Amino acid sequence: MSTTLVTDPKLNVEKNGFLDIELDPEMDLFAEIERLKKEKNAIILAHYYQEPDIQDVADYIGDSLGLAQKAQQTQADLIVFAGVHFMAETAKILNPTKKVVIPDLKAGCSLSDSCPPPLFAQFKAQHPDHLVISYINCSAGIKALSDIICTSSNAQQIVESLPKEQKIIFAPDKNLGAYINKATGRNMVLWDGACMVHEIFSVEKISKLKLRHPNAKIIAHPECEEPVLRLADYIGSTTQLLKYTEKDAATEYIVATETGILHQMMKSNPQKTFIPAPPNNSCACNDCPHMKRNTLEKIYLCMEYEVPEITMDEELRLAAKKPIDRMLELSAQFGLI
Ligand code: 13P
Ligand code: SF4
Repeated sequence: MSTTLVTDPKLNVEKNGFLDIELDPEMDLFAEIERLKKEKNAIILAHYYQEPDIQDVADYIGDSLGLAQKAQQTQADLIVFAGVHFMAETAKILNPTKKVVIPDLKAGCSLSDSCPPPLFAQFKAQHPDHLVISYINCSAGIKALSDIICTSSNAQQIVESLPKEQKIIFAPDKNLGAYINKATGRNMVLWDGACMVHEIFSVEKISKLKLRHPNAKIIAHPECEEPVLRLADYIGSTTQLLKYTEKDAATEYIVATETGILHQMMKSNPQKTFIPAPPNNSCACNDCPHMKRNTLEKIYLCMEYEVPEITMDEELRLAAKKPIDRMLELSAQFGLI
C-alpha cells in the first residue's frame, strides 16, 4: 500500500473539499500517476495556470477553449481535470458518460463567483431584448441562462458574428467585455465581475520595469484592466500569448497574466526571457490561489480514489450545454478549433 488506508473517501472529501490523506514521502508520484493513467484509461487535462509539476504530468495543456474541446472529444474513461471547478464542470457538461474528477473541489474562481445565477437572472430580466454572451469562466447556472458561451480566444469573433444592431449582455468579466466593446465598436451591457488575479497588475510598476527593459514586449491577457491593456504590445488568451512568444522575434517579454503560463513559455523558448508583470503590492498575487490549490499529491489521490467527482443535475447540464455547443460550432466555423 502506498497510502494510509482510507475507509470512506467521500466523507473525507465532504469535510475538506479534497482527499486529506498522508502519503508516503518516498512515493514516486510521477510514476504512480503514469501507472494510474494506464490502469484506469485516464487522461489529465491541465490549464496553463497549474504548477509546473502538474503541467509536466498532463496529457494535454491548454486554454479554456482547447480544454473544452479536448474534454468533449476524449475517449478516456476518467477525465482528471487539473484546473478550476467551472472547467471540470464544462468537461462533464460536454462528456457526461465519462467520470470527471478534480483534485480539489474548492478550486473555484473569483470571476465565476462574482456572478451568482439568481442575481444574473434579475439582471437579464431587466434587458429582455438582449442576447446573453457569457465568458466560459462562470457556473453551469449562468451558462444555462446564456445564449452563447465564449472564451478569450474567440470572444471577439463571436461578437462580430452577430448583427451590429443586436443588443448584447456580456457576463461576467467587465474587463474582457470592455476590451471587446472597444475592439468591435459595440456597446454591450456588462456584468460587473472581474478576476482577482488580472486586476492586480500595477501600471506604474510595469512602466518602470519597461524602462529597465526597453526591448521587452508587454503581453497581456484581456482579463486585465484597460490601463494595463493600453501598455500591451499584444493581447490574447493564454494559448495565443504562448504562440505569440513562439513566433515573435523579441527575446524578452513582460507577461501580464497568471504566472503558471511562464513554464510553457520558458520550455518553448529556452533562449528567451520572461518577466512576470508586477502586482500593485508585494505579495505573489499574480498566482491564482484557486488554480494553485491543486497539487501533484491531490492529482494522485483523486485518480486513485476517483473523488472528488463532478456530478450534475441532467436538466441543468442540458441547458448549460446548448450555449457551449453554439460556441464550439462557431469556433469550428472560424477555424479556431
Ligand atoms: P484562457 O486560458 O482561456 O486564456 O483563460 C484564462 C483564465 O483566466 C482561466 O481561468
Ligand atoms: Fe478565475 Fe482569475 Fe483564477 Fe482564472 S485566474 S481561475 S479567472 S480567479
